[in-house]
Amino acid sequence: MRNLLLIAALGPQLAAQSVPPAATPIEDLPGAGRPVALEAHRLRRAALLERVPSGVVVIPAAARRGSDDRVLQDSDFRQDDYFFYLTGVETPDAWLLLTKSVEGPQTILYLPVADPAREQWTGHMLAPGETAAKLTGIADVRPLDATDLESAIEGAILENPGPVYTLLLRGRSDNAPVQQWVRSGWELRSITPVLDSMRVVKDEGELEALRRAIAITVEAHRAAMRAAHPGMYEYQLEATIEYTFRSHGADRVGFPSIVGSGPNSTILHYDVNRRQMGDGDLLVVDIGAEYAQYTGDVTRTFPVNGRFTARQKAIYDLVLAANQAVIDAVRPGMTIRELGILARQYMQANSGTLCGEGGCTRYFIHGLSHWLGMRVHDVGDYAMPLEPGMVLTVEPGIYIPEEELGVRIEDDVLVTTDGCEVLSVGAPKSTDEIERLMRQGAGSGGARRHQ
Ligand code: GLY
Ligand code: MN
Ligand code: MN
Repeated sequence: MRNLLLIAALGPQLAAQSVPPAATPIEDLPGAGRPVALEAHRLRRAALLERVPSGVVVIPAAARRGSDDRVLQDSDFRQDDYFFYLTGVETPDAWLLLTKSVEGPQTILYLPVADPAREQWTGHMLAPGETAAKLTGIADVRPLDATDLESAIEGAILENPGPVYTLLLRGRSDNAPVQQWVRSGWELRSITPVLDSMRVVKDEGELEALRRAIAITVEAHRAAMRAAHPGMYEYQLEATIEYTFRSHGADRVGFPSIVGSGPNSTILHYDVNRRQMGDGDLLVVDIGAEYAQYTGDVTRTFPVNGRFTARQKAIYDLVLAANQAVIDAVRPGMTIRELGILARQYMQANSGTLCGEGGCTRYFIHGLSHWLGMRVHDVGDYAMPLEPGMVLTVEPGIYIPEEELGVRIEDDVLVTTDGCEVLSVGAPKSTDEIERLMRQGAGSGGARRHQ
């Protein structure tokens, strides 16, 4: 049953090279998802209502998708991030209604009624009833009925007049009931700016999921370094990576895996992964496992044959030093923009003659950082000064197409009260560490010669 996703205590802080034990499935639902952190989700709902002066908040879950939908290979259901953030519930086509009444904040969860015929095809669903109330921590769980939902909203607005806040993109929604409300003349406003400002600072439950997603991602990097060898195809390494993801309980990839060798190392988001890797190639591996709706985003660059050439090492060490200079500077009060300037200034000042007279920054052709969370490029205002609990990437790169030489080094970094914690620290980063791990892989025999 994959209709409920819960983030339980995931055990102590991870050892650098291991993935923590999975959460224990809940007894009532054998084989179910993960237990919901009830209090954390209640606190998020309360914090949201605090920020809404008047009116009601209505959040639709993502719609169910079928294997006959337009994008055939993508019928896997993934919950809407905002709905998940506020409920931890993975059920499709559900609704969440938050209101302020005279008795205080009210929460109503609407779940589709059970449909045994459909469940025979696609599995059991969390349905309205006592079990749902217990598992979600929401006492008022009702069978989904469009008329009942609308009258609950109308009743709430009468008590607390104001707009209906919901998920709108550029003022619009592709959700049929919401479109109908627009036509009926209700005043609709987007709730996403408020939710985005909350999501940019991660709470403990979110950090547990992120730590696990990143630990699995790190494990896959180590597996890729051990397995890579000349003659192997990029897709074979992609298979090693994604096998590692699923073996450790990741739900899916957070974005298409980038495995770019030789000329492809200079293409920023190359994810075709069909080239046969050659002796002497550099390889950029930019990957992220998704666990409990949160994704890692970690890049390592390494030589396919296990040994950096002098030229590769020189460029690599410049990118590595820029990555470290930024990590040393991450602390509350800094902005992503300031970190980007610092990275470029550092790289330029230390380019020497490596990239000719113009310096190496002209080959650093993308931004330095983005927020990380439920989205790989997560929501949130990029002008905000850093605060403890924010998670960002630090990913300088140099891409020289004429030399088929691309290097990106990307870490995931949690802002703390006086600096930062590098969550992706377990992925080897110095050229020595990488070469050592790759030598271990070479010793493992058959794994490297499966061509
Ligand atoms: N993996 C996409 C990025 O690093 O932004
Ligand atoms: Mn990134
Ligand atoms: Mn990345």
